[in-house]
Amino acid sequence: MKDILEQLEQRRADARLGGGQRRIDSQHKKGKLTARERIELLLDDGSFEEFDMFVAHRCTEFGMQEQRPPGDGVVTGWGTINGRQVYVFSQDFTVLGGSVSETHAAKICKIMDMAMQNGAPVIGINDSGGARIQEGVDSLAGYGEVFQRNIMASGVVPQISVIMGPCAGGAVYSPAMTDFIFMVKDSSYMFVTGPDVVKTVTNEQVTAEELGGASTHTRKSSVADGAFENDVEALAEVRRLVDFLPLNNKEKPPVRPFFDAPDRVESSLDTLIPDNPNMPYDMKELITKIADEGDFFEIQAEFAANMITGFIRLEGQTVGVVANQPLVLAGVLDIDSARKAARFVRFCDCFEIPILSLVDVPGFLPGTTQEYNGVIKHGAKLLFAYGEATVPKVTVITRKAYGGAYVVMSSKHLRGDFNYAWPTSEIAVMGAKGAVEILHRADLGDAEKTAAHTEHYEDRFANPFVAAERGFIDEVIQPRSTRRRVTRAFASLRNKRAQMPWKKHDNIPL
Ligand code: HXC
Repeated sequence: MKDILEQLEQRRADARLGGGQRRIDSQHKKGKLTARERIELLLDDGSFEEFDMFVAHRCTEFGMQEQRPPGDGVVTGWGTINGRQVYVFSQDFTVLGGSVSETHAAKICKIMDMAMQNGAPVIGINDSGGARIQEGVDSLAGYGEVFQRNIMASGVVPQISVIMGPCAGGAVYSPAMTDFIFMVKDSSYMFVTGPDVVKTVTNEQVTAEELGGASTHTRKSSVADGAFENDVEALAEVRRLVDFLPLNNKEKPPVRPFFDAPDRVESSLDTLIPDNPNMPYDMKELITKIADEGDFFEIQAEFAANMITGFIRLEGQTVGVVANQPLVLAGVLDIDSARKAARFVRFCDCFEIPILSLVDVPGFLPGTTQEYNGVIKHGAKLLFAYGEATVPKVTVITRKAYGGAYVVMSSKHLRGDFNYAWPTSEIAVMGAKGAVEILHRADLGDAEKTAAHTEHYEDRFANPFVAAERGFIDEVIQPRSTRRRVTRAFASLRNKRAQMPWKKHDNIPL
């Protein structure tokens, strides 16, 4: 009996060693942790329960029957993050380059099925040379099975991908269908075709880092939602994000203890808006001053910075924030910012996370680049996302809310529940200068008349009261009391029930 127990321990020890000490050392030399070290950092101490430690591939081509490492290049199982259940897979680059075989994929599918059945998020740590070349179509079939599960799980349980090494070819499409992708700077990359193929086909010379590194995907392509310095930081931040999220689409987000008075008054907000309407200010100051303990988890901070998206808590409960950022391009709506915010709004709506919108938007960005690239369709994404969202929606207009952008940014007309405005708000079809240029074109040569027209327009529209008279703004509030007003608004909406008419699914302008 003792022998058998020892044998088990020996088998386990062998499996834990993955591809052996030499390859583990090589992984460490690249500044990367091993699959198991990553799981240890991600999950609460001692909470990991492994599945399929002894699974081995069944391939007999290319001498593969001679190397059948237990676990087959991926560590899978479940554990907890701050006591809440998550499922995890972590590809082991030390075993056949973390390449995906039929059985490797089946291990991932098993935990995805369990995650969906038991209502817990899936976190995938990617570090893989892609399809296992020796297996051919069996490997591709395995990927296909994972893809189908990504689709089935979308909107049912949160799915988070962490890219911590190579992720290339069709393999990128599994993370691409998850809710969030995080990358590690200088040690991870994602691309559909690598630098060599790119050189052959387009004659472009580009490094792997330039083509698909963390900086490329967080700044240029927006494929990734955040980039971190190293594995340790990335995993710590994933833990922080998971704390904001519900476990599944039938549960509310977690309620955390909070140590910040919901009625905290922030007098400094009374002077946040500069006297000159063309001067920018930092919308993040407002976000952190509203949030419990100033804690803000930003999503896609490096991309389309004219729009801010991320999570805060109010009275310990998660709220998604969508905010125009006057510091960047005057907070204008454009293709990138509309796409970024639309995806975030839809994530929040999938998982019953209430949405706070902070509005200071001068309109849509004009220009041929925008029009040729489809700002009409991309802008419609955000409009559509807000209009279909049935979660509690609270909006605060701080300054400009002009034209179509006013309607788009969670206005009353898109079923906004609470629409507040600061006294500094200007809600109109456009700014005074543009309006006078159109309405009083004949007087444009006359500075005195133009000034008088501008003043008249400003008196009439550069305020929130016309909208408030019509009930499009529920209340004009003091900036200093924004946290209290917004917190109470969300508290009053905890039992909100709103529905869309029955449909198979909508046809959001993709
Ligand atoms: C089998 C693989 C492998 C793969 C790497 N290895 N990729 N084995 N199938 N796809 C093995 C290597 O043979 C090596 O084994 C070990 O993993 C480490 O690889 P190295 O090349 O030594 O590491 P490194 O120099 O860091 O380079 C990593 C790499 C390179 C850039 C990922 O290995 C590489 O280019 N691999 C092939 C990538 C690829 O073309 N994959 C298919 C993509 S298409 P030993 O025994 O020496 O340790 C795809 C389609 C998915 O994935 C489609 C889904 C629908």
